[in-house]
Amino acid sequence: MSTLTLPEEAARRRTFAIIAHPDAGKTTLTEHILLAGGAIRAAGAVRARGENRRTRSDWMKIEKERGISVSASVMTFEHDGKMFNLLDTPGHEDFSEDTYRTLTAADCAIMVLDAAKGIEPQTLKLFEVCRLRDIPIITFINKLDREAQDPMALLDDIASRLQLDPAPIWWPAESGNRLRGMVEVGTGRFQPYTRKIAGAAEDPGHPDALPLDQAAQYFEAGEQDALAEAVELVEGGYPAFDRQSFLEGHLTPVLWGSALRHFGIDELLKAIGDWAPAPKVMKAKKESPPETRNAPAPVDTTVEPGSNEVTGFVFKVQANMDPNHRDRIAMFRMASGAFKRGMKLKVQNTGKSLSVNAPIMFFASDRELADDAFAGDVIGIPNHGVLRVGDSLSESGVVRFAGLPNFAPEILQRVRVKDPLKAKHLKKALEGLAEEGVTQLFRPEIGADFIVGAVGQLQFEVMADRLGEEYGLDVIFEPSPYAEARWVGGADTDVEDFSGKYRPQMARDIDQAPVFLAKSSWETGYVSERFPKIAFTKTKERG
Ligand code: G4P
Repeated sequence: MSTLTLPEEAARRRTFAIIAHPDAGKTTLTEHILLAGGAIRAAGAVRARGENRRTRSDWMKIEKERGISVSASVMTFEHDGKMFNLLDTPGHEDFSEDTYRTLTAADCAIMVLDAAKGIEPQTLKLFEVCRLRDIPIITFINKLDREAQDPMALLDDIASRLQLDPAPIWWPAESGNRLRGMVEVGTGRFQPYTRKIAGAAEDPGHPDALPLDQAAQYFEAGEQDALAEAVELVEGGYPAFDRQSFLEGHLTPVLWGSALRHFGIDELLKAIGDWAPAPKVMKAKKESPPETRNAPAPVDTTVEPGSNEVTGFVFKVQANMDPNHRDRIAMFRMASGAFKRGMKLKVQNTGKSLSVNAPIMFFASDRELADDAFAGDVIGIPNHGVLRVGDSLSESGVVRFAGLPNFAPEILQRVRVKDPLKAKHLKKALEGLAEEGVTQLFRPEIGADFIVGAVGQLQFEVMADRLGEEYGLDVIFEPSPYAEARWVGGADTDVEDFSGKYRPQMARDIDQAPVFLAKSSWETGYVSERFPKIAFTKTKERG
């Protein structure tokens, strides 16, 4: 039982995600962060755990076949007086909205770059989401044990392409075979690097840090002086770390290392513990469920992480982790309060009440039953379809968080079931998957077809697989005439006027919101110009 006060519990939470282009080392880094945090004892555990999960959940055969992880999860561990919640974002090229949504539950992101490759396309995409949501970023430049780009070129790339001031916290002493270690900028402390001997089973530990001028034994002739000079240049040439500027998203502290060789990881974990923000005060509305009669008008409010009432939102629904149970686990990110097992929470937009008797905390070692949880924590709430992505839950039932976005899909396809007698089943199945956020579903106002939208091609494969395995439906995806979907907003009369003119291209999403299906991006531009009073948006905030 905790002896800390509620605000103290909230203040010691660090809820973060790792963003990276595939292959930059996200999985390896996750593992080594868990090692550094004492949450696992040996490397290989994250992968092994993944394998276990895969063999248990055969609906995710795709994961196995393609060797990638499609479903995101969270890992919690306690270290050095802090509680860390590491949100796992799937890192494949064809990532889904899950990735984006997971970031809505994170207070900080670790951006991993491959030291040889620098910023890659998916790094950029994920970075943009972080920027949109004002999530501060800590940069970790990985794979120093391999030949790297010039460190200054890497930092300059961050500055010019991300418009983010890089503040080097450490400075690498070479890379690849010549990697000697790294120097702490500002203190001159040198952290030596020890190479793994060929054929050795285990990585050696790295020696303790010491002042650079006492570290001659780690260098060859001339190297030590050259490094001291380089560090002097770096100290003069780059901004020093400024926490406020970091929290506001103007500056990123840059750390270096090798996830594989467990080098620079303790330093990274310390940076997260010291600098990453605790859960923030969140904007919300006090609002009765939509059906309430004589409900007072909604009012703006703020939710303090250390306040008493349990509040939060569902950012992800994970279905059928265990194929024997048709359970769904809603990932609930707490914004405030002290959650106790057995507590009753209400869903704001439906007014439904549910007793959370078997919440799941995702401790790094295994799934465990949670007894209590605080702001920043993520708990899994098993349910049978009551909870949807974007739902706000609270004790009073009247707190609503907005801002969980749906992103306009980049691929739109028509879906049909081979056996026409099963059309009704298909509708139900598609709605179920859309509620989970696997894909988006659009029902054109004219005709009986469904248009399914996804951010990446992989989502269609996941969908076809699940429709077959879980619902026994053999489906065909066909190209649709549409290239883009845009939510349509504006005054009712303007929207009606527009919809009337474009009826054949109008559809409804799963919440009945009007959507325009454009045949090309040119057409989107054209209607935007012709109907200036209408907002055609790429995202729709749910909640
Ligand atoms: P991801 O989740 O971002 O896709 O990357 P992951 O950790 O799977 O790493 C991608 C590859 O990069 C892996 O090699 C991994 O071992 C390697 N790697 C990660 N960090 C480092 C590092 O610090 N130094 C070096 N040299 N390599 C690193 P692989 O050969 O694709 O997989 P595996 O067979 O080693 O598992």
